[in-house]
Amino acid sequence: MKVIIKEDNVQGGKAAFEIFEKAIKSGAKNFGLATGSTPETLYKNWVASDLDCSELTSINLDEYVGLKPEDPQSYHYFMQKHLFDQKPFKKTYVPDGLAEDIDAYCKEYDQLIEDNQIDVQLLGIGQNGHIAFNEPGTPFNTGTHEVKLTENTIKANSRFFDSIDDVPKSAICMGTKNIMHAKKIVLLAFGKEKAHAIKMMIDGPVTEEVPASILQLHPDVTVIVDKDAASEL
Ligand code: F6R
Repeated sequence: MKVIIKEDNVQGGKAAFEIFEKAIKSGAKNFGLATGSTPETLYKNWVASDLDCSELTSINLDEYVGLKPEDPQSYHYFMQKHLFDQKPFKKTYVPDGLAEDIDAYCKEYDQLIEDNQIDVQLLGIGQNGHIAFNEPGTPFNTGTHEVKLTENTIKANSRFFDSIDDVPKSAICMGTKNIMHAKKIVLLAFGKEKAHAIKMMIDGPVTEEVPASILQLHPDVTVIVDKDAASEL
């Protein structure tokens, strides 16, 4: 893993954008994208750039079960607001949180990822080491699946909702198999509360108890952290 330490999330977002920009200019077409607080500075740089995204395809990591795309807390809405409204892509995919047959839908999403191999996959990380919503204990090598969110994640994400009771209890998310299939992975983490997860991901054993530790086995991972998130390295 290549680790880049930046002063803060502004510098980190800029460094991440440079990787995406270089990939796009070199012909990369398929991007795996993430939501949450972490990628916001990257998306700000992306929106401010003159990059033409009309030939690009994006495939997002996850979506809450039960939220409509127009729900302001949904990941569909987040992506529209932070990137796609300003930078239209050729095709954008975010899992359908309203899918009726979730198992069948997950298989379709796996096929989508299989048919459009991701050139650069963006990831954040949870305080417990989750990537996408693959929580500790999720078997490695799973495909897209429905996941019950842990109390820890529900609590962390409640800041985006009026009350903790409004946070959906499950999500549809890519599995580690889908993530590991990407040609290149860029993981971002900012803030002291991510420091332990970053330490475990980089220096700890590869274990399902720290889902992000699987990235040690991928040949092309760049981790961009700020000083706080790097403080336990
Ligand atoms: C979001 C996602 C999650 C977040 C993680 C960190 O699409 O897959 O794994 O990356 O929960 O969230 P933030 O960035 O809000 O700290």
